[in-house]
Amino acid sequence: MSDDVLDKLLTAAIWAPSAHNRQPWRFCVVRSATVKQRLSERMAAAWRTDLSQDGADPAYIERRIAISHARLTGAPVLIVPCVTMEEMDVYPDVARNHAERTMAMQSVALACQNLLLAAHAAGLGSCWMCAPLFTPALVCDALDLPETWEPQAILTLGYPAEEKQKERAPLSQRVVWR
Ligand SMILES: Cc1cc2nc3c(=O)[nH]c(=O)nc-3n(C[C@H](O)[C@H](O)[C@H](O)COP(=O)(O)O)c2cc1C
Repeated sequence: MSDDVLDKLLTAAIWAPSAHNRQPWRFCVVRSATVKQRLSERMAAAWRTDLSQDGADPAYIERRIAISHARLTGAPVLIVPCVTMEEMDVYPDVARNHAERTMAMQSVALACQNLLLAAHAAGLGSCWMCAPLFTPALVCDALDLPETWEPQAILTLGYPAEEKQKERAPLSQRVVWR
């Protein structure tokens, strides 16, 4: 995947709307096989611990981990979107700080959606993986990210090998009109 394509995707991302136009998104682009391997192995270790503590069957755990590892190391590019609260407003009360944090995360999600749409338009396939939400410190360490960056997801990117059937519930089950 060329730098030019990645530039286009990241540019689409940063043109998303954001709360107070503070642009609280940060992106780590991972192309190195070594870094992908390190990231995947470290997340797998944490996931294995969590699933074992949940009482999951060991064969099931290893199956899930193998699928995740294949995705993370098989994708040519991983993008790790992060949120930072550095430039967001700070209030004296918990409720408004909570709302501000939600706004920052909504802004990052919008940037990611822009990126995913641009990826689709460029003929790329992608998957949003939520794993970093469960192990943010580990992801920051594996990717050597600033402490203020909070990883929100991993977006895998690559040229798709197969078509996937999409499904959505009908509008009638998701919308009310008043
Ligand atoms: C917040 C969020 C978290 C997600 N986490 C995962 C994930 O961890 N693993 C995964 O395979 N897909 C994940 N997905 C992708 C959804 O499973 C996917 O969008 C949904 O099944 C619909 O499929 P489609 O987007 O291909 O139509 C996530 C999507 C979102 C928005």
